[in-house]
Amino acid sequence: MLEHLDRLAPDPILGLMAAFRADSDPRKVDLGVGVYRDERGETPVMQAVRDAERAVLERQTTKTYVAPAGNAGFNEAMRRLALGDGSPLARSERVCAVQAPGGCGALRLGAELIRVARPEAVVHVSNPTWANHVPLLSGCGLKLERYPYFDAVSGGVAFEAMLSALEALPPRSVVLLHASCHNPTGADLEEAQWRTLGAVLERRGLLPFIDMAYQGLGRGLAEDAYGLRLLAEQLPEALIAVSCSKNFGLYRERVGCLLVVGQSGAAAEATLSQLVRIARGLYSMPPDHGAAIVAEILSEEPLRAAWQRELAAMRARIVQLRTATAAALAAACPRKDFSHLVRQRGMFSYLGLDKDTVRRLREAHHLYMTDDSRINIAGLRPENIPYFAQAIAQALGQ
Ligand SMILES: Cc1ncc(COP(=O)(O)O)c(C=O)c1O
Repeated sequence: MLEHLDRLAPDPILGLMAAFRADSDPRKVDLGVGVYRDERGETPVMQAVRDAERAVLERQTTKTYVAPAGNAGFNEAMRRLALGDGSPLARSERVCAVQAPGGCGALRLGAELIRVARPEAVVHVSNPTWANHVPLLSGCGLKLERYPYFDAVSGGVAFEAMLSALEALPPRSVVLLHASCHNPTGADLEEAQWRTLGAVLERRGLLPFIDMAYQGLGRGLAEDAYGLRLLAEQLPEALIAVSCSKNFGLYRERVGCLLVVGQSGAAAEATLSQLVRIARGLYSMPPDHGAAIVAEILSEEPLRAAWQRELAAMRARIVQLRTATAAALAAACPRKDFSHLVRQRGMFSYLGLDKDTVRRLREAHHLYMTDDSRINIAGLRPENIPYFAQAIAQALGQ
């Protein structure tokens, strides 16, 4: 049976990582992989995570399964982190939560839930969106379409085009939104735009499915959840996929959560029972360790404060790198505008370069970014920003 399988081309990002590893030039810079890096170019274990991990291990008495819905303390903490500590919705019976293996697991659980509720539903994703949204959401049989999102001229959101596309969707269509730090463009909605969007979703009867993978890495924990909280409070139903990979640095532990806001307590209960059934059929029980760490951090005040300080330092580093990179590019490439780097948020930005330029940057200057010219700003360091800017100027012939 298996001898008829076609060999698939490797995932482009994995190919990029392999090429980077094989490059022996000391000037090489990895701007491809979407993980946070510190000033030494490393992705360290956060101190709050180390401390929580020690406490969790000391207390642990068994390795028996956690429940299919996961760690109840973690789910409770995620409701409050995503929806807001003081928010009545975070405590409402209308919300149910299941722990998931990473944000990816949460996205897939949400997609499977939509398929059970409405198999013919179409999910509309931004153009462009994170490449993995496509297999995660369409892999269970849902149809995917795209709405306009990025304005290449301003480096911001093509809001009018986005709104007119959403206005034309049939009721009960699903709209996938990035809560903040849009991947891959870095272009986020402003608060007033979220309010306008909320009104359109409500009037048109559209269901928001919000992906929050970078809470705290854009403007702040509450600021990055502004749109999500607004929609969850204003609309009758919402799906929210949360990842703890980036803001807790727990990538390989696979920690995430799917929150669903239903129209009533009974609807949320029925939804939870469906999610448990879906989880049983996909992976049965979620992994324990990462969720136990997050629950510990969020429930112990000193740990929580330490984690928030570390997260604030990561965020500040990203903002400083954005400012320094935009200034270096403005000086090196006076004929191309890169000022959008300062306005965009989170780890990613589109540089707006064509594929040939991206290839030249890789081959001649050892700068590794995806073909669409998305860079992970955290891959830069103050010392290599001048080299980066000069290389871009040369590749552009400036
Ligand atoms: C937009 C977006 N959503 C979700 C995820 C999910 O990440 P994970 O499954 O590692 O938690 C990522 C990770 O890169 C992402 O960029």
